[in-house]
Amino acid sequence: MTVSFKSMASWAILVLILMQFVPLRRINPPADSEIQLPESIKHSLKKACYDCHSYETRWRGISYIAPASWLASSTVSSGRAALNFSTWNDCNWREKKMKTTKLGDVVSAGAAHQPPYYLWQPEAQLTASETRALLKWLTDF
Ligand code: HEC
Repeated sequence: MTVSFKSMASWAILVLILMQFVPLRRINPPADSEIQLPESIKHSLKKACYDCHSYETRWRGISYIAPASWLASSTVSSGRAALNFSTWNDCNWREKKMKTTKLGDVVSAGAAHQPPYYLWQPEAQLTASETRALLKWLTDF
């Protein structure tokens, strides 16, 4: 049996359309125990980290189109599970201490943490001075 390019293309389009109907958890619950931060630190974390580590995700155009939306929603779910600034005050001091140590490692790593995101969203990357300020703040935390 030979399959024409036209029929393959039609199937591919149909599958892409059907993919759009898979339900996703693309929601931002209320952030009621948010971390308290100095204004400049908050600005940096909101810019570079909040999309995956808070309930204040800025869902952008691409995150509404399957299959990119599947990747976006699963990355945000695992990001929030690992660290969530919106529920920070629900953690005990031991958890906070552990997360703060890891924060330092990730901030130092820069765009090596989640390269596809920072490639897609270069304006979300921390500048050298924002990175320095964050690392300094973390040592006093
Ligand atoms: C595109 C989504 C995304 C962005 C943006 C993002 N992260 Fe993450 N982060 C994740 C995911 C997913 C995980 C869990 C899996 C992993 O460790 O890679 C994670 C894990 C972490 C962890 C836990 C690491 C561990 O070893 O347990 C820390 C700390 C962290 N991120 C800090 C940050 C900081 C700080 C920023 C901003 C500078 C940031 N992340 C930006 C998605 C993201």
